[in-house]
Amino acid sequence: MGIGAATLAIVAVAVIAWLAFLVRNTRIRHRRDLPPPNLSPYLTDDDLETKRLDRVLLAALVAVAVIAIVMPFYYLNETARQESAAHEFDDIAIERGHEWFVEYQCGNCHGANGGGGGARYVEARSRLETTWAAPAVNDVLYRYTEEEVRYWLVYGRPGTPMPAWGAEGGGPLNTQQIDELIAYLDSIQIPQSEVLAAVDGRVDLELSRLAGADAQVAAVVADQQAAIAALEAIPGQYDAIRDLPRRLESLLTDPATCTDESAALLATSCSGTASDQDRDGLSDATEINLGSLVAQVVAGAPPSDARTAIEKLAFDPTTGFSTSEGATPIADLEGARLLITDLGTIERDLRLAAQNLDVLVATAQAGLDSVLASQEARRYAVDIPALAVEAFDGNVTRAQRAVGLFNAYCARCHTAGFSAGIAFTQEPGSGAMGPSLREGRSVVQFPSIDDHYDFVVKGSTNGVRYGVNGVGRGWMPGFGAMLSSDDIMLIVEYERALR
Ligand code: HEC
Ligand code: HEC
Repeated sequence: MGIGAATLAIVAVAVIAWLAFLVRNTRIRHRRDLPPPNLSPYLTDDDLETKRLDRVLLAALVAVAVIAIVMPFYYLNETARQESAAHEFDDIAIERGHEWFVEYQCGNCHGANGGGGGARYVEARSRLETTWAAPAVNDVLYRYTEEEVRYWLVYGRPGTPMPAWGAEGGGPLNTQQIDELIAYLDSIQIPQSEVLAAVDGRVDLELSRLAGADAQVAAVVADQQAAIAALEAIPGQYDAIRDLPRRLESLLTDPATCTDESAALLATSCSGTASDQDRDGLSDATEINLGSLVAQVVAGAPPSDARTAIEKLAFDPTTGFSTSEGATPIADLEGARLLITDLGTIERDLRLAAQNLDVLVATAQAGLDSVLASQEARRYAVDIPALAVEAFDGNVTRAQRAVGLFNAYCARCHTAGFSAGIAFTQEPGSGAMGPSLREGRSVVQFPSIDDHYDFVVKGSTNGVRYGVNGVGRGWMPGFGAMLSSDDIMLIVEYERALR
């Protein structure tokens, strides 16, 4: 129990005691039929001025002393009391922020712990679906202020998978919820030592990505070629299975092969008397024929969930429950029901794809052309030895580190297509959300290298001018808390050499 609570308890006890005394006194007078105090004789003046007065004064002195001692003690603790109240409030905000983080699935893109991840996204230039890299948010407050983070949360980042979350941006969250999300982000920021320790790993990763870039792009080209081949196979696949739904229907309902149960699957009745030795609702003839029908679907249809389900089906006229090897047995009538649905799905998907084949192939071909052009142009590639000669006195190690650093920390906003993957990456510094830095732009903007360096350390501030003609929107992060001064200088030298 704190001093505050103890004081309160003492005061409360004193008040209760005083009230009890008054009530008791009145009761006693009533019971004894005494006259009220103002009509009864009291102490003489002599008595009043000596013992009585001394006692009252002493009591007053003690009361004042108690107050004089307790009040400062109470006050001493006041800051701590307010802090703990604020803490409790913060804890609640963090907890609720975590709830929004989970409910709105930030972790699906940014990683469950906020350490970074990716999102499926259709890349604008090629119209190909790719994985767009999503930055870590467990270090975002080392590069952006809370107000800047609020801006991204409220308005999202158009042209990327990051949606707008705030009501002003058209999103689902109100101001308080955004505050709580920021409180949560604040609570998951990793220590600065970890931010700095991650630099070398991120540089290595980017350098090895560059080294494997040609192979990576070749793989995307091969995938796209396979996708086109798959599209071109569709007319043949459709021809192979287009009649099977009708054949299935006739096996289940034709008088020569139906039973009452099998006809009922298609909401009709059976007028025949086919033999059904295992009495599972499918006639022997139907079961024998279904085996070959299943084999035809499996051989003809492209891979899909429906085909996988059909692959598990098997029919045997002598047992009521059957299945292909290894799968759980299902009742044959139930197997026939699944076959109706899944075969229907396969037939419909192939029919729709066959009808729209021209558009599908043209889009896929445009995507292929786009990655083939990228493979040819190799805009993602950096000639490190040449860069070393131009900007780093021939020092290849420093040139390499500069490129790795730029790709790890700057390229996602300053190199077009970078977040969409190597196959979509344009020239280094070609400009994305951040302006292009090519053709010596940053030398024009910052004639003094020191100003350039300072800008990268601090980032931009909304409404504050920078360089020769820059007006900040607060969108450019500051890297002073994330990168060493040597590393920042390396990047700056690289940027000044971008032509
Ligand atoms: C569909 C995927 C997706 C979801 C969901 C998502 N984000 Fe993002 N977010 C991204 C991407 C991608 C970026 C980077 C965009 C770019 O390339 O400039 C980003 C950027 C950010 C940024 C700016 C970071 C920086 O350094 O540029 C913050 C902060 C952020 N997201 C927080 C959140 C929070 C909080 C949530 C949940 C309410 C969330 N995001 C949900 C994909 C997503
Ligand atoms: C999250 C996106 C983002 C990242 C990451 C980023 N920048 Fe920027 N940068 C911007 C934006 C946006 C601007 C324009 C200023 C503004 O809008 O506030 C800018 C402006 C600049 C400018 C001034 C260019 C001009 O001509 O006005 C330089 C130089 C620069 N950034 C360097 C860097 C460096 C170096 C890094 C990496 C260490 C980096 N940026 C990382 C978004 C980013």
